[in-house]
Amino acid sequence: MTSSEQVNIVSAEFKANPFPFLATLRACEPVFRTTLPDKAKTPVWLITRYADVNALLRDQRFAKNRRSALTPEQVRKLPWVPPMFRPLERNMLDLDAPDHTRLRALVHRAFTPRLVEQMRARVQSLADELLEAIARQGEMDLINDYALPLPMTIITEILGVPTSDRHKFHKWSKAIVSLSSPNATMRVIPIVWMFIRYLRRFFKIRRRDPQDDLVTALIQAEEAGDKLSEDELLAMVFLLLVAGHETTVNLIGNGVLALLEHPDQMEKLRRDPSLIKPAVEELLRFTAPVFMSSERYACEDVIIHGVTIPRGEMTFGVIGSANRDESVFDEPNTLDITRDPNKHLSFGRVYTFAWAHHWLAWKRRSPSIRYCFARPICG
Ligand code: HEM
Repeated sequence: MTSSEQVNIVSAEFKANPFPFLATLRACEPVFRTTLPDKAKTPVWLITRYADVNALLRDQRFAKNRRSALTPEQVRKLPWVPPMFRPLERNMLDLDAPDHTRLRALVHRAFTPRLVEQMRARVQSLADELLEAIARQGEMDLINDYALPLPMTIITEILGVPTSDRHKFHKWSKAIVSLSSPNATMRVIPIVWMFIRYLRRFFKIRRRDPQDDLVTALIQAEEAGDKLSEDELLAMVFLLLVAGHETTVNLIGNGVLALLEHPDQMEKLRRDPSLIKPAVEELLRFTAPVFMSSERYACEDVIIHGVTIPRGEMTFGVIGSANRDESVFDEPNTLDITRDPNKHLSFGRVYTFAWAHHWLAWKRRSPSIRYCFARPICG
């Protein structure tokens, strides 16, 4: 294989089964250059080996905020972003220290273990409610009847969105999540506008009339005299919605599909439900709900395995490939719900702080809480 071989990483064909291609990249071209299918043919680098993805996720030579990495020439060529969307760029996934550190400290103060603890019973009762309704129906659409309403309802409840507004809030946020698909931007502009207007009003109400919810806690969170600005608050609510929504839907949807495609593993789990924890861990590894890291931009020319990634170019750690790296996992393409150890990278930088946090969540024995709410302080 040569770097000139092209692959459309956003196409449905690639996404349907990227694993043979990624295995070849890990073996032959672990730092692979391709281009996006846009007019400018934007160059993109894929990092596919476990050790390299793990290193990339914390590599200071790469920035998440592209403006800190690009040359003035590259900044001039950036596509125009409608002014209304600009506040949304101030979210943790697109920022580096010191902004990222500050936002993270603030969100830590708001997203307390007490809040997570309080949600445990609620997540369980909502999951039960949804399943009971499905049982009455006698059939189910896994995504619409279960995988979507579960995180969506919980996130709106955590944020404190009034029950009467949840319907429209769900509708808007569903449309906004589709922003991640190409060419959707123009279509969702009016929805984003309504959504932002709604949120700004909602923040005003919570400033006047604080409640026991996350938006109030974020408004009040203070770290060394620092507070979230209104735009940062807006970006944070968006990030929680998008990050918390698609990930959980992907895990439930693709996880159930993987079990259906591996009836022996499904049967093993049915016979011994105590295997649920390693099973969820394995489904996280196998399906990698966040298949690629968020973009990183090289702040200087970076050499990895003798290949130079030029300054300013977009780079992705392919988490779904790292999770199948044969130098780390025995029989990586086999779904084994008893796999141990299972050091997958599905939550990003697992073995630093995030791992300690997950371990605490484990000890509290709540997979659903763990997957829905332990995450905002990881990554
Ligand atoms: C199956 C569930 C989830 C998976 C697999 C997952 C995966 C990830 C990964 C891989 C990252 C790091 C991305 C990168 O650095 O490139 C990340 C970051 C993040 N996730 Fe999740 N996530 C999940 C659920 C959630 C939920 C439910 C929320 C919130 C309600 C959430 C909020 C965040 C936030 C705020 C960040 C940014 C953290 C930071 O930059 O410090 N995630 N997630």
